[in-house]
Amino acid sequence: MNIYPDKITDVFQAIYAKNPTLIVRAPGRINLIGEHTDYNDGFVLPAAIDKAIYFAIRARPDRLCKLYAADLEQAYEFSLDNVQKSSVSWANYLIGMVSELSAAGLTIPSGFEVAFGGDVPNGAGLSSSAAVESGMGYALSELFGLNISRLDLALTAQLAEHHFAGLQCGIMDMFASIHGKEQSVIRLDCRDLSYEYFPFDLTNYRIVLCNSGVKHTLAESAYNTRRQECEEGVAILKNFYPSIRSLREVSLAQVEAHRDDLPDNVYRRCRYVTGEIERVVAACEDLQRGDLGAFGQKMYETHAGLSQDYEVSCVELDFLVEAAQTLEGVIGARMMGGGFGGCSINIVNTEKVEDFIEAISTAYLNQYHRPLVSYVVTITNGVEKIG
Ligand code: GLA
Repeated sequence: MNIYPDKITDVFQAIYAKNPTLIVRAPGRINLIGEHTDYNDGFVLPAAIDKAIYFAIRARPDRLCKLYAADLEQAYEFSLDNVQKSSVSWANYLIGMVSELSAAGLTIPSGFEVAFGGDVPNGAGLSSSAAVESGMGYALSELFGLNISRLDLALTAQLAEHHFAGLQCGIMDMFASIHGKEQSVIRLDCRDLSYEYFPFDLTNYRIVLCNSGVKHTLAESAYNTRRQECEEGVAILKNFYPSIRSLREVSLAQVEAHRDDLPDNVYRRCRYVTGEIERVVAACEDLQRGDLGAFGQKMYETHAGLSQDYEVSCVELDFLVEAAQTLEGVIGARMMGGGFGGCSINIVNTEKVEDFIEAISTAYLNQYHRPLVSYVVTITNGVEKIG
C-alpha cells in the first residue's frame, strides 16, 4: 500500500493546522536508453515510475509562501514580493518554479502553504528534483487555475533547474515526470519535442533498479563540462558542416572522418553521443519488432560508451553492470541518468527477479561492503491530481 498520499495530508495538517485543498503526485523517471542525448537534440526513451513526490497545498489570503519538506522536517518561507534564490538547496526547486512561472508572465495571485515528500530516493538518478519542480508547477497551475500546458510546465521546470539548481540539464527528466503514461515508454525527440508512446509490456520482464549508493551531485560534477565538450565538438565540426546546430545533425561516420580535427576528449564525447542517438532509433525498432534481446544488447553498448567514451560512470556502476551481464534472466543492463553514481537499470525475466536481486546484492556486498538497495519499478502516469 502506498502510504504517501495520506502521509502528506497528515503532515500538512500537523504543520499548518488546516486541510489541504489539493493533493498532487509527481513521479520520478527511468530512462531505458538515450543517455546524455537530450541536450544534444537527440532521442530519449524515458518513462514515469511508481516512485513519486507528493504535494499537499492550499492558497493563503496573503502574499506569503510557506514550504515544508516532510522528509527533511524542514520549513522555509518567502514572500511573493521577494522571490529569490535561497541558500537552502531543497527550497530552490520550489522557489525556482514560482520565479520562472512569474518570469513567463503568469500571475500567481496569492501565497500558499505546501508540504511535500515521497519515496524517490535522493541522488539516485531517478530525477527527484525534476519531480519536485514538476509537481510544484502542476500544483500551482491547478490551485490557481493557471491552465499551463504540460509542455510549458516541463520547459519551465527545466529553466528552474538551470537558474536555481545550476544544472544545465536537458528536457528529459521533467518531460517524463509530466508526460508519463502507464505501461508506456516515451520516445521523445528533443530537437522539436515531438513524442510518441511505445507500449512496454512488463508481463514477462521486470525493470529492476540497483542503487549503487554513490550519490551523484550533478551540478558539482562533470555534467556541465560534458555539455560544453559537446558544444566544442559542434563548433569544430561546423567548419566542415556549416549547417549543423547540434550533434543530432552529425553522424557517427562524420565524427570518425574528423577524428584528427577534434581534441581526443571531444572526439570521444562526440563518438558516444552520435552513436547513442543512432542506437536509440534502432532500439525503438527492436521494441516495435518485440525483440527485447536485441534491445538489451544495445543497453550494454550504451553502458560501455558511457563508461569509456563519455566517462560518466563509476567503478561501482561498472561492477553492477558487469555482474548483471553474467546472471541468468538478465536481458540488458546499464547505468542510468546523468551518472557519477546513482542506479543501474536492468531488464530481468520476471521469474528470475528474486534470484537476480539476491545474487547481485551478495556480489555487491562482498565487493564494496555496502548493502545494495534494489527497486522493482512499474511504469505509471505522469504528474496528476490525486485528491
Ligand atoms: C540528467 C539530466 C538529463 C539528462 C540525463 C542524462 O538526468 O537532468 O537532462 O541529460 O542526465 O541522459
